[in-house]
Amino acid sequence: MKVTKPGSTALAPVPAVMISCGLENPNIITLAWVGTVCSDPPAVSIGVRPERYSHGLIDEAGEFVVNLPRADQVDIVDYCGSVSGRNVDKWAACGLTPAPASKIRTPLIAECPVALECRVTQRLALGSHDLFIGEVLAVQIDEESLNEHSQLDIQRVPLLSYAGGYYYQLGDLLGRFGDWRGKFA
Ligand SMILES: Cc1cc2nc3c(=O)[nH]c(=O)nc-3n(C[C@H](O)[C@H](O)[C@H](O)COP(=O)(O)O)c2cc1C
Repeated sequence: MKVTKPGSTALAPVPAVMISCGLENPNIITLAWVGTVCSDPPAVSIGVRPERYSHGLIDEAGEFVVNLPRADQVDIVDYCGSVSGRNVDKWAACGLTPAPASKIRTPLIAECPVALECRVTQRLALGSHDLFIGEVLAVQIDEESLNEHSQLDIQRVPLLSYAGGYYYQLGDLLGRFGDWRGKFA
């Protein structure tokens, strides 16, 4: 038996990421309405309310960085999603270091294991949020986060996930793409 509820943002889990944005005085905003939307060219979407301080910074610069936090950075993620860069220097408050990106002018967060350097290609007004599409021009990954195939290894670096207002640590390996073979007709 299922219960029918009104339409809502029920998709779960979603990532919880920290976006660095802005050129002169860069800021950090936590976002959960984030997703991969195209493989070639690689692109991500982010949903940002127009009233956010970061909205104007992303719009003006035409670029942003998606920084993937480790699970143990959850308090920083929560903080950067609760205060505004209008009033606070979140870099200083959290002890985070801006580091140069390779393809864009917006700095990435040095303490996060992965950073996607994005250039805005489209902006779409959806209602409460504006959707920015960002082409991923480069990805910076900490060397120690990579496995022997040079891929991000979640076992080494547990990432953060978000569902229904709660944060979770990604970690248990269940299988690999294609493992269904031999299990179903
Ligand atoms: C886990 C989490 C996820 C969030 N996701 C979004 C989001 O997807 N879009 C958005 O506009 N705000 C989101 N927020 C709220 C902003 O991060 C928050 O309003 C922030 O303080 C805005 O910062 P700014 O004023 O410096 O831009 C989220 C907050 C948290 C804690």
